[in-house]
Amino acid sequence: MGAILVVDDEQSMRDFLAIYLRRNGHQVKVAADGTKALELLRETAFDLVVTDLRMPGDLDGIGVLKAVKALPLVAGLTPEVIVMTAYASADTALSAMKQGAYDYLTKPFKLDEIEVVINRALEKRTLVAENLTLRERVAGKARLGQLVGKSRAMEQLFELISKIHSTKSSVLITGESGTGKELVARALHTEGTRGTHPFVAVNCGAIPEQLMESELFGHKRGSFTGAVADKRGLFQEADGGTLFLDEIGELSLGLQVKLLRALQERKVKPVGETEELEVDVRVIAATNRDLEADIASGAFRSDLYYRLNVIEVRIPPLRHRREDIPLLAENFLRRFTREQRRVATLTPEAMRKLETFDFPGNVRELENVIERAVALTSGPKIDAADLPDPRPTKVSAAVATEFPSDGIDLDQLLGEFERSWVLRALELTGGVRKRAAILLGISFRSLRYRLQKLGIEKRDDADEEGDA
Ligand SMILES: Nc1ncnc2c1ncn2[C@@H]1O[C@H](COP(=O)(O)OP(=O)(O)OP(=O)(O)O)[C@@H](O)[C@H]1O
Ligand SMILES: [Mg+2]
Repeated sequence: MGAILVVDDEQSMRDFLAIYLRRNGHQVKVAADGTKALELLRETAFDLVVTDLRMPGDLDGIGVLKAVKALPLVAGLTPEVIVMTAYASADTALSAMKQGAYDYLTKPFKLDEIEVVINRALEKRTLVAENLTLRERVAGKARLGQLVGKSRAMEQLFELISKIHSTKSSVLITGESGTGKELVARALHTEGTRGTHPFVAVNCGAIPEQLMESELFGHKRGSFTGAVADKRGLFQEADGGTLFLDEIGELSLGLQVKLLRALQERKVKPVGETEELEVDVRVIAATNRDLEADIASGAFRSDLYYRLNVIEVRIPPLRHRREDIPLLAENFLRRFTREQRRVATLTPEAMRKLETFDFPGNVRELENVIERAVALTSGPKIDAADLPDPRPTKVSAAVATEFPSDGIDLDQLLGEFERSWVLRALELTGGVRKRAAILLGISFRSLRYRLQKLGIEKRDDADEEGDA
């Protein structure tokens, strides 16, 4: 099944193809001329364009073909084009093929002829798409499972995940909201030897305390009002696989004791049951709370903490690994253009603007920004103006008077500070470096040096003195 655009000036032909193709399960749009086709092509990511060659107006079939080939790539591809011609003129058809058409149909054609050609074109696309993902996977260590990132911190995270995915030790994943804790938990599961068994996730903060015990460990019929049948707990559901305890910091003290027991004994006791059941479950917990502070205040048991925290995986906030922003943005752009069947690219100015964001909501916030931009921008380009304004850098964080309990990384903090002001100056001056340097109160040379050092600009870009 594919998204197909039919372009023909002859209405009966458009109607006929649209009905026929829709009946075969395709999504179909039609255009009566090349100009209208181009409009639709800029909005929607089609898999296939079936166009008449000879059409009145500014754009004939070859024009449409050329326009398609010039479209920005969506998930690495432009639509395939099949041309139709009423005149058995082998020449034009051939020239269309030379310019990249996938195939041609000579009118009048038989139904099974169209079907064969269209199916072949769609199959080819599937193959090419699979190939691309494969190549990407081979080429870059910049992803693991669904996780994307190329910063040093993410590389280290990927390494850690590959080391520990198949051990049975408990893992505690920490990080601010939206940093990807759940995705890391899933990657640990799917990459490891338990990957073919269930991954069961439970949000410890979302289930009322009275129900949580039976949720985790199950219950026996009649063990409390409402327990009308035996119920398997999540530990049992996850047998052989992974149980992901999200927001573990929200678990009540009573349940913390029970969970600790289950982890130590590798057995669970359903509510109302006397026998314990053996389970083979790897537990991964996550929190965005400071559990050590919770231990200090008595809200979290230290024995459970050490049980869970056999291996700790810390995910840094996005603002501490800004090198990941472009990659993540492209990743989400790809996903949302495909999902919304839109054609859109981010302009370099838009990308630069994203890099100035602090993203208090981390990767989730970036994801939302891109999703909105894809939905709300009508043209094929998402420009800086189509993005919301960044929530400004908290200068106070860099000059905080209270010293964080786990210390600071001065170089990193200064680097961030520098980067954020440099990017904001470039943003304000539309990328004109000489003016940005004036705003920053530094020399042009010094700005160039910093741009290279911060990896904002490559050496060769900086060597041309194009600025006004
Ligand atoms: N490295 C990444 N690559 C691709 N997508 C990511 C990455 N990190 C996070 N995401 C995406 O960002 C969103 C938030 O991630 P996730 O739900 O895993 O965060 P979380 O840390 O569990 O947040 P919370 O504490 O709010 O539950 C998800 O849609 C996820 O797919
Ligand atoms: Mg989460």
